[in-house]
Amino acid sequence: MSTEVASAKTYPPSSEFSSGAHVDAGRYEEMYAASLADPEGFWAEQAKRIDWIKPFTRVKDVDFSFGNVSIKWFEDGTLNVSANCIDRHLATRGDQTAIIFEPDDPNEPAQHITYKELHAQVCKMANVLKALGVGKGDRVVLYLPMIPEAAYAMLACTRIGAIHSIVFAGFSPDALGARVNGCDAKLVITADHAPRGGRITKLKDNVNQALLNDFDEVKCLVVKRTGDPIAWRNELDFWWHEEAEKVSDDCPPEEMGAEDPLFILYTSGSTGQPKGVVHTTGGYLTYAAMTHEITFDYHDGDIYWCTADVGWVTGHSYIVYGPLANGATTLMFEGVPTYPDASRFWQVCEKHKVNQFYTAPTALRALMGQGNSFVEACDLSSLKVLGTVGEPINPEAWNWYNEVVGQGRCPIVDTWWQTETGGHLMTPLPGAHALKPGAAMKPFFGVKPVVLEPASGEIIEGNGVEGVLCIADSWPGQMRTVWGDHERFMKTYFADYKGYYFTGDGCRRDEDGDYWITGRVDDVINVSGHRMGTAEVESALVAHSKVSEAAVVGYPHAIKGQGIYCYVTLMAGEEPSDELRQELRTWVRQEIGPIASPDLIQWAPGLPKTRSGKIMRRILRKIAENDYATLGDTSTLADPSVVDDLIENRMNKG
Ligand code: WTA
Repeated sequence: MSTEVASAKTYPPSSEFSSGAHVDAGRYEEMYAASLADPEGFWAEQAKRIDWIKPFTRVKDVDFSFGNVSIKWFEDGTLNVSANCIDRHLATRGDQTAIIFEPDDPNEPAQHITYKELHAQVCKMANVLKALGVGKGDRVVLYLPMIPEAAYAMLACTRIGAIHSIVFAGFSPDALGARVNGCDAKLVITADHAPRGGRITKLKDNVNQALLNDFDEVKCLVVKRTGDPIAWRNELDFWWHEEAEKVSDDCPPEEMGAEDPLFILYTSGSTGQPKGVVHTTGGYLTYAAMTHEITFDYHDGDIYWCTADVGWVTGHSYIVYGPLANGATTLMFEGVPTYPDASRFWQVCEKHKVNQFYTAPTALRALMGQGNSFVEACDLSSLKVLGTVGEPINPEAWNWYNEVVGQGRCPIVDTWWQTETGGHLMTPLPGAHALKPGAAMKPFFGVKPVVLEPASGEIIEGNGVEGVLCIADSWPGQMRTVWGDHERFMKTYFADYKGYYFTGDGCRRDEDGDYWITGRVDDVINVSGHRMGTAEVESALVAHSKVSEAAVVGYPHAIKGQGIYCYVTLMAGEEPSDELRQELRTWVRQEIGPIASPDLIQWAPGLPKTRSGKIMRRILRKIAENDYATLGDTSTLADPSVVDDLIENRMNKG
């Protein structure tokens, strides 16, 4: 396959930066080669980052062959994650701030929680969980704002060996209920309300609605965030602050096997409903800790801020587990980039003297549109490394980040990874690589990317090539299974390209051998950095009584990266109208959450289908993108004339 030439301008690290970095160019080459030559030796050494209760004797036991997929790392070792993230730091950094909490309202004081305080709070919460009947292996759903209690709850689960499943607080009661049911949770931890961007989400009301009817045995632990009134379920609901009074602030950590599940996190795929990605204990923590330190070039004493939400994998690995395993100071921000105004991110950087700042391209695009004055008003001299995650970053946003935010002196790490991968798989390292705007550049240690011909699955060797991205061997942070459905795990990731982990992304390896992610090759779309299955939005739409059929695709959106474009066929007798469009939007928000809200709805009297009834999404994608020149062959359609109608009535003209 041919490909365009890589962008000419590159941004090498300064020699001062490289010489002080954990990994410079020479060290990267040396370590990368060692990690592939002897993965067992390499990872045995890296696993020393973690304190083991019982050391492992086996490093890696992996089978990628379809039908037998099995992934195990450090299998016979034992450890406890909360002890690694807290207890082992107490002697050396008990009084150091572990978590800085910056509330939504800038007038509310920030909190600095030391490792000692974190220990006491996590132990208390662990004891409360036990008192509520939660034990090793039980599932606990967290539905919380970005408050310190979210980190306490995660770590409290790990302390007693319970498995957490965090549901992003922007999900609807229906989506929450499905996830409580999906993992058979014993307890939900939530807050009364979640302030965000000056608005309030009624979390406890949502939980009540989610648990209504079906789950009258599921208990709920409630953090008081605003104190505004909420509806209470007697005997099932408990205030965190009241229960905390009744228990000790010491709780011995449970000894866990390296392969015991640590958490479940639901994520979207190209088919069906979201699946519960399972991460386990030893490998995940080793990988999260190592990538956090190396990718961001984190040094002792640095203040690190990742703006993600703990409801996504980025928050798991790079707000809580990676940073705390490294004894870092990690900032948790409850708010949004534009509240009270578009300088909030930069004010927080100035206020807390942030050294590493990690965010999503969609936030940068939104802020870039507000003008430079919001950035320039703040002192950003503390910044050393900038990062992005979640979606491809366009060169304009990259340049703005580099020049206006980083003032040309902060390397930008464009980290490519997935919920499934646990941590970064490809990223430039800030002291090692000459950056190219928009490139994920190089594999992390131990990661063996391969580019395959999409149809044949043949490996494409050499540089200047493009294809689907697979990974040839396991790394410790890899997901182990889909909760309750190992078959689905194998089918999703190991069936299409035998012997490889299939990422779902396309990629280009440029003339220099550097990697560029070209986006999903399946029916997953990426809206404001939030990953979504088009099938989920479709099933929400067809659940509406007036809708007979729906097809959903992504289309380019200046701020969100991709927007949600819906083709909707109405039931016979229903009339299209703007009111109905609004009704369907509201409906999808209720079914899934505001993040799934359709941007454009086109009425489609018919959808392009093959004679066997399969919807031709390729054509729908092209129409949504305003790109008709390459519609391809439409002669195999059952009724080719529907395409003309769809083009005639497309939504985003111009
Ligand atoms: C996309 C988020 C380009 C990609 C950590 C991937 C990216 C999906 C990047 C995973 C990046 C993530 N450049 N695309 N730096 N990072 N993606 O599971 O399509 O929410 O497959 O994990 O986001 O999204 P997820």
